[in-house]
Amino acid sequence: MKEIFFCPEESNFYSNCLENFVLRDCQTPEFIVEFGSGDGSPVINSLLRNKFEGLIQGYELNTAAWKTANSTIDEYNLTNKYIIHNSSLFDFDKPQANYLVANPPYLPAPDNDIYMPLLFGGIDGATITNELLSLGYENVLVLVSSFSNPISTIKKAEDNGYNVNNFVVLPLKFGCYSSEPKVKEHIEKLRKNEMAFYSGDYYFLAGVLFKNNQKSEIDLSNELAQVMTSL
Ligand SMILES: C[S@@+](CC[C@H](N)C(=O)[O-])C[C@H]1O[C@@H](n2cnc3c(N)ncnc32)[C@H](O)[C@@H]1O
Repeated sequence: MKEIFFCPEESNFYSNCLENFVLRDCQTPEFIVEFGSGDGSPVINSLLRNKFEGLIQGYELNTAAWKTANSTIDEYNLTNKYIIHNSSLFDFDKPQANYLVANPPYLPAPDNDIYMPLLFGGIDGATITNELLSLGYENVLVLVSSFSNPISTIKKAEDNGYNVNNFVVLPLKFGCYSSEPKVKEHIEKLRKNEMAFYSGDYYFLAGVLFKNNQKSEIDLSNELAQVMTSL
């Protein structure tokens, strides 16, 4: 459990977002890139529930997680639909794809010396998420946490030409990773600077579909900002 990210509530939410915002929308074979596949279960579960003819290429730095994901992919005969590389998307010539999807590392902390260093999201928690919105993919589905400087993410997306096309919000209890004292104390400091929003034991996790489409008439950025800062 310490080695591989384990939070079924969050992984299931990500899987449902993938299904509702991406897989059901894919008419023709599409290419999807995933940052941080973990044990692969969110994508595998949504592939098992949906007809999808394209290819998903995942990137996962944690070798134990990557191995687990590959054996499950084999078990379900999904090797022609889901391929995971044991490397970082940032180290590669980024592959072409219609969608980039991620439940990214979003823990804010003073440094990455935390329970699971690969969940470190930079000092404000939004660093990796904001980098993912700077890679030039046309559609980006990411989970955004209300304690990880969510306004910076909405602004970064706007600066890079994205609209918020759709979003769904899940109230989540602080889990074992975000409750680590070093992380929790840092989040309390961010709250004083209006960079973290939570209430008691709860924070909001949003599944957000950003679309870089000049013609799009839908932009829910203000609504998303209001919800994420309402705690
Ligand atoms: C919040 S977990 C999500 C895992 C899985 N997608 C899920 O939702 O269950 C983030 C994952 O990103 C991985 N990760 C962190 N930095 C990475 C990087 N630079 N490249 C690839 N994977 C990375 C971590 O090892 C971790 O498995």
